[in-house]
Amino acid sequence: MDKLAVVVLAAGLGKRMGKDLPKVILKTRERPLIQHVLTTANSLNPERIVVVVGHKRELVEETVSSGASEGLYPKEKIRYALQSSQKGTGDAVKAALPELEGFVGTVVILYGDVPITRVETLRSLIERHHADKATLSLVVLHSDQFTAYGRILRDDSGHVSRIVELKDCSPLQVGIRELNPGIYAVDSSFLAPAVSELKNENAQKEYYLTDIVQRAAEEGQSISSIITADAGEVQGVNTPVDLEVVNRILRERQVLNLVNNGVIIEDSASLYLDSEVKIASGCVVGPQVQIRGKSSLKTGVKIEGCALIIDSEIEEEATIKFSCRIESSKIGKETQIGPFAHLRAGTILGEDVKVGNFVETKQAVLHNGAKASHLSYLGDCEVGKESNIGAGVITCNYDGVNKHRTKIGENAFIGSDTCLVAPVSVGDGALIGAGSVITKDVPKDALGLSRAPQTIREEWAAKRRESLKKS
Ligand code: UD1
Ligand code: MG
Repeated sequence: MDKLAVVVLAAGLGKRMGKDLPKVILKTRERPLIQHVLTTANSLNPERIVVVVGHKRELVEETVSSGASEGLYPKEKIRYALQSSQKGTGDAVKAALPELEGFVGTVVILYGDVPITRVETLRSLIERHHADKATLSLVVLHSDQFTAYGRILRDDSGHVSRIVELKDCSPLQVGIRELNPGIYAVDSSFLAPAVSELKNENAQKEYYLTDIVQRAAEEGQSISSIITADAGEVQGVNTPVDLEVVNRILRERQVLNLVNNGVIIEDSASLYLDSEVKIASGCVVGPQVQIRGKSSLKTGVKIEGCALIIDSEIEEEATIKFSCRIESSKIGKETQIGPFAHLRAGTILGEDVKVGNFVETKQAVLHNGAKASHLSYLGDCEVGKESNIGAGVITCNYDGVNKHRTKIGENAFIGSDTCLVAPVSVGDGALIGAGSVITKDVPKDALGLSRAPQTIREEWAAKRRESLKKS
């Protein structure tokens, strides 16, 4: 098999994005465009990848190397070439030539602003290139939609003969429906002279890479192509709207992958997932759900709907009932949350725990089988196995200056409407009477009660009613 190098063009200004940043560092699905392109390029296993930089090169290089540090592609394969002024895509490839020195084989050229091309498409292009022993091969996009892409011209016998940029098109050429998505495989020995001798006699006074097609045709070199009708995967990002289109396509791909893997998604239109979210087969995700950051859902998790889940791990068969917010938390197997629960950072719930309606937790560890079913604030606390937290229990963790912890042992029972004024502890098996304000530690198996004794005055209410009537 022929050797492979990839050149990625990333020196441009991105004028149409309306920002002064190089557009290849803008993000789609939390990842800069250039990192998407380099990840795909690396999947082809090239000998080297040359990134052409120019406008704000430091920012682009920083972005490229942070992707390498994350392990998306090996740092050793990346080389940078400087295009000192942005005179067009052809000039950018010319700037890459010194970094291709000594390389003999096929050069795949990709634009840094075309981020979501599938690696399978690139592989088919390379296979066709080799099978046809072509000098130059390209992807041809068939699309009825009007776009600003270059138009592909064919000669009388149907061979690709030229690419005309939209700005240089005659009115008749504008209507051509064979478009240039900008993905090429070129023989290295043809590429070097072809880009070195480009002219800029066109509407934009730029050196167009696309002009190497005409040169190849005129020299009688063989030009090969593959056709795609999937405008989405070759979508270039030139405007803010294009960026949103790319975002949407990636989201749709992610949802389809999940559905194919056995996840039930009840309303994909109202589901928002960050790209690194993992959802195992057998999970059911209801409508109006956002799952963000590095969250993961294991097999059989059910989310009823209307949830925001951020950087959280949810174990097998757990249920998140309607309307919950969960952040930086861990939820154990078969545990049930909600409806209307708020799990803040540092919440760790064991197996078969219950956190019910209007319960807020923060830095709270609830061990297996613990239950807090209604209306509680559990902050900076630990609740032992099988303990029951009654309705309206509050851990008073803040004295206005510092935060303090509450520790509740196993099998304890905290009666409704109890305030636990931290720092305080309740021993295993202890019972706290409803309505208590607990300020001192309660030992194991003890009763803790701090309630004014109840008074009964027989007939008092009836007499009061009578006296009010008379006056
Ligand atoms: C280019 C193609 C067009 C194709 C379209 C597909 C040319 C002349 N035109 O147009 O036929 O339909 O892509 O998306 O190639 N860049 C540099 N240096 C430069 C200019 C650009 O590195 O001097 C880089 C940019 O950073 C960008 C890429 O090359 O990543 C493409 O440049 P862009 O200006 O977006 O070209 P298009 O107008 O989209
Ligand atoms: Mg472009």
